[in-house]
Amino acid sequence: MTSTATAQGSEGRKAQPDHLGHVIFITAAAAMGGFLFGYDSSVINGAVEGIRGKYDIGSAALAQVIAIALIGCAIGAATAGRLADRIGRIRVMQISATLFTISAVGSALPFALWDLAFWRILGGIAIGMASVIGPAYIAEVSPPAYRGRLGSFQQAAIVVGIAVSQLVNWGILNLADGDQRGHLMGIEAWQLMLGVMVVPAVLYGLLSFAIPESPRFLISVGKVDKAKSVLADVEGHTVDLDKRVAEIELAMHSEEKSTFKDLLGGKAGLLPIVWVGIGLSVFQQLVGINVAFYYSATLWQSVGIDPSDSFLYSFTTSIINIVGTVIAMIFVDRIGRKPLALVGSAGMAVSLALEAWAFSAQAADGSLPTTQGTVALIAAHAFVLFFALSWGVVVWVFLGEMFPNRIRAAALGVAASAQWVANWVITASFPSLSDWNLSGTYIIYTVFAVLSIPFVLKYVKETKGKALEEMG
Ligand code: GLC
Repeated sequence: MTSTATAQGSEGRKAQPDHLGHVIFITAAAAMGGFLFGYDSSVINGAVEGIRGKYDIGSAALAQVIAIALIGCAIGAATAGRLADRIGRIRVMQISATLFTISAVGSALPFALWDLAFWRILGGIAIGMASVIGPAYIAEVSPPAYRGRLGSFQQAAIVVGIAVSQLVNWGILNLADGDQRGHLMGIEAWQLMLGVMVVPAVLYGLLSFAIPESPRFLISVGKVDKAKSVLADVEGHTVDLDKRVAEIELAMHSEEKSTFKDLLGGKAGLLPIVWVGIGLSVFQQLVGINVAFYYSATLWQSVGIDPSDSFLYSFTTSIINIVGTVIAMIFVDRIGRKPLALVGSAGMAVSLALEAWAFSAQAADGSLPTTQGTVALIAAHAFVLFFALSWGVVVWVFLGEMFPNRIRAAALGVAASAQWVANWVITASFPSLSDWNLSGTYIIYTVFAVLSIPFVLKYVKETKGKALEEMG
């Protein structure tokens, strides 16, 4: 399809403003899963000292208890896609919300360390499911002209979830006089931190009853009339509904069935498009973004910041993360996904290289000279800004929309689980890598940021403004 035809096509599909309000509500409700994703994956950071004290364990064991949730995430992401094709998108949201709720209660009231690890894995499965179902569902209910912006609600919800968890942890800690094991409402502060998640989890579950099933799923199970009424709701009553249904049906039947087997093909094992999805996911993690979130205290201390002010600096990072996400939301449908990704890669590469340079001057006690300390601090924030305005949003938007209809759910599941495995590799290897050489560690992340540029240029196709039925 030529670019002119695409542009006209997307113009023709612009939703009327009265429908847009409804679509925004539906998107925001589905993005609650993203909020829980951000909240749950970051809440543990505020609770680690409490857990360490309660179970009297060393750093290595503690790191395992934290990292184990990421394995659950990979499992949840791998299963959600196929489940969504079988039982529907909404049901998967409800299962995820239920798992979040159970995991929050279980993690808040564990009777042993292994029990806590079990509840964290369960919560991980819920996160993994939410990470897949949010982008898939949002892409399926969004009119093409707004799909990037609506799709970025998922990442916006993730970053708000991270920030809110930091705030709640800070509030609870203050109430407990700064002691993670201090008692509040009959339990220790760290337990309360993990338990508070029940509130958004239940809300997610309730909201999922207020939103419609995806028209593409409804068509796939033969509920065409229902699908039409949802399409009219989200794309407007002036849209030719019979034509839209025919387009969707055609796109579904011309593709293979959505099972893992159908992702296979060609010499490289998987279909090329699935590899591109995996590549996007993995690069998003290999630049080390979660090191900036999970291990920020290490960085703050090396630039001489008092550990008691650590919260303030981590919260600043979160605010920058939110600002970057808003910038991406403004531009994702205007300039497109690819240009944003490229700007982000270049900015991240420069910031990471500066961090590598600064840490090469690290003294034996971990501290940095003043100039390098300032550079490291600014570069760390610039890195988060560049990530947020590009790969943070763009990858989740791409994963929701880049695959053909019939393989979308399964392909997204595979790409997202690869992302969780990459997240685990980076976060689990950081402590040993930084013991080896912090500057060298940042050079590794820089190399990945640089490599992401030719990857995007060569393999990633722009999806801005195209209907989902045009993806192939
Ligand atoms: C993206 C990443 C996630 C990261 C977050 C930070 O959602 O997938 O791993 O924690 O951005 O904003």
